[in-house]
Amino acid sequence: MKTLLVVAGAVVALFLTIAQFGTAGWTRPPILAQQHGFRGTGMDQIQTKAGAAALKAANRPPAPADPVEPGTDKAGAVYENVKVLKDLSVEEFNRLMVSMTEWVSPEQGCTYCHNTENMADDSLYQKQVARRMIQMVQHINTTWKEKHVGEAGVNCYTCHRGQPVPAHVWFQNPGPTYKTGFIPRNNGQNLASPSVGLASLPYDTLSEFFGKKDVDENLIRVNATTALPESKGKPIQAAERTYGLMMHMSSSLGVNCTYCHNTRAISNWSQSTPQRTLAWHAIRMVRDLNGNYIEPLTSTFPANRLGPTGDAPKLNCATCHNGQSKPLAGAHVVESYPELTQATAETGATPQPAAEPVSPAPAAPP
Ligand code: HEC
Ligand code: HEC
Ligand code: HEC
Ligand code: HEC
Repeated sequence: MKTLLVVAGAVVALFLTIAQFGTAGWTRPPILAQQHGFRGTGMDQIQTKAGAAALKAANRPPAPADPVEPGTDKAGAVYENVKVLKDLSVEEFNRLMVSMTEWVSPEQGCTYCHNTENMADDSLYQKQVARRMIQMVQHINTTWKEKHVGEAGVNCYTCHRGQPVPAHVWFQNPGPTYKTGFIPRNNGQNLASPSVGLASLPYDTLSEFFGKKDVDENLIRVNATTALPESKGKPIQAAERTYGLMMHMSSSLGVNCTYCHNTRAISNWSQSTPQRTLAWHAIRMVRDLNGNYIEPLTSTFPANRLGPTGDAPKLNCATCHNGQSKPLAGAHVVESYPELTQATAETGATPQPAAEPVSPAPAAPP
């Protein structure tokens, strides 16, 4: 009887396997391979054609609003409660309000940020956050222009994509709430977390690498710098955290490790691509934005927008990049919004002096 069942089972399995080959589309999808490093180094980027097309379609910026007459009356003089955009003419100010609505809250409209009975009223948290966001965008497009965002720049759409809450934000991850057994002793690992590309790596690496402003410049470095050990090296857990961050950066940009590293000499800057230097600065930029712009808003956000440990929703590489190596395929999104490329009037709300991007630390990019 047992043998009969085994034979019957095997026959069914065989038929199912044959049927699978006959019915499923087992053809190799058309592949796009782009040589990225020096020839022969195998530093290629590989995508499927369909994947590349879908990505392109999902990353198109809306057309800029029509230009307006220059105008002479300043918004700061005409309106009651304008703190950041004082020097714009009323016409330019209204054009920006219309564009901000299209970028951030096209469905909700002006009422997402405004009490329409009194536009000057600041009672909605959304308006207070938006005011700080305008300053953050100005800061990105000035302080970080040379080191990261270049002529392309960013506007609200880069992160928001027509949504009040960007698709990619993150919170501190305190891990599972179990108190006993194996799970609480997981070393912060082995939970498929999107923040590390679903790999079996420490799941709260973003808090460590993007959540603190003043950290050791060599925090991410784990490779030995001398042929023989001269002091105690870093533990394997530190290497796992670094890998977790690298998985985040690769998946956010839709690239593999060889976009930045020649993997025969990962830590060597002279064999790395120029993109690695841009990424080095990006890590510092993300810390600056979270620390100086987002975290100070923690008490402005309502409790339901905060994370499990009460922290504000923060940004990472994916917030701007959305799976592409250049956000919105490198579109120049601030060309026709000069007000977003310069720091205009300050608010009374204690803006911290934002750190100038420092030059790379020792053993960093030349
Ligand atoms: C994403 C949030 C947001 C949206 C959407 C938005 N606004 Fe605003 N609005 C602001 C902020 C922030 C200020 C204050 C700017 C400053 O302090 O420089 C403001 C200020 C104003 C003011 C000046 C009010 C005063 O008397 O001080 C007017 C007028 C205005 N907005 C009109 C509009 C209109 C019309 C729309 C819809 C087309 C709109 N806004 C959509 C955030 C928004
Ligand atoms: C670098 C990415 C980035 C850019 C650029 C950006 N934002 Fe944001 N924005 C965020 C993040 C992150 C949050 C927090 C998400 C949340 O509120 O849960 C946020 C939240 C907001 C909110 C509050 C949404 C809510 O209901 O919680 C408003 C309003 C807003 N942004 C407006 C703007 C405006 C207006 C601009 C352009 C002047 C802008 N943002 C540009 C990343 C960005
Ligand atoms: C977008 C560019 C980029 C991508 C993609 C990338 N890295 Fe990195 N990697 C960096 C930068 C920048 C540093 C240095 C960070 C610092 O010093 O603050 C670094 C550092 C490292 C280090 C530490 C090197 C040392 O000196 O100790 C390792 C290991 C590493 N990366 C592995 C990887 C792996 C594995 C992948 C693919 C999963 C990857 N990286 C993908 C940019 C990148
Ligand atoms: C505030 C938005 C923003 C954030 C956050 C951001 N980037 Fe970028 N990044 C840009 C823009 C805009 C460009 C395009 C610059 C250009 O076209 O010159 C860019 C370009 C790059 C490039 C060059 C791509 C190429 O093909 O040359 C790399 C690499 C990169 N970013 C890595 C990162 C990494 C890694 C992070 C997270 C640590 C990050 N970025 C976070 C906006 C951002």
